[in-house]
Amino acid sequence: MMSSSVNRRRCVFLIGFSGSGKSTLGPPLARRLKRSFYDTDDLIEHHSGKNVDRSFAEDGEVVFRRLEENVISNLLTSGRSKMVIALGGGAFANERNRRRIQENGVVVYLGCSTRELYRRLAGQGERPLLRVRLRQGETRRQARLRRIKQLRQQRQAVYDMADIKVSTTGRSIGQTVQLLDKRIRTWYDDH
Ligand code: S3P
Repeated sequence: MMSSSVNRRRCVFLIGFSGSGKSTLGPPLARRLKRSFYDTDDLIEHHSGKNVDRSFAEDGEVVFRRLEENVISNLLTSGRSKMVIALGGGAFANERNRRRIQENGVVVYLGCSTRELYRRLAGQGERPLLRVRLRQGETRRQARLRRIKQLRQQRQAVYDMADIKVSTTGRSIGQTVQLLDKRIRTWYDDH
């Protein structure tokens, strides 16, 4: 249908686990595609006046997910066009978000190996979702790797619904942006 294919050109949504590269690749990809860039975590921070991890930890996941849903809905009803949107790692798991997202753009999953995710996230502060109780004899590294694997298993079926899947493991930012550009253009040609 004409209208649905036009709508699906409106946004490029980046989904994937924390550390998969959504916020890093989003701005250069947007520049290359001549689109504007939005990051839902940044919009939530702007709205709540606090850092995402703090709002997640202090107000709880339910409040955070409600805010996230509102931010996505507002962005998509704002009348803006030609956007690249980096979504928080859990946003696409919400069915209402998923419906809105799938109606408004092409969904791109950024895949990454568990070890690489761990490495990228290790340099950052404590993440509420990665906070785990150590099992006896387990190191902090092992516990974090276990938690990342568990979250990936929980979410993989949802992430697999993406229209385009690209692995970022072992690729530079420039190489990945080039590949994403190519895959998105091919997808547009086919739809
Ligand atoms: C979350 C990922 C985070 C942030 C929040 C919840 C998740 O975003 O939205 O901490 O559920 O995976 P990033 O994927 O940008 O780290």
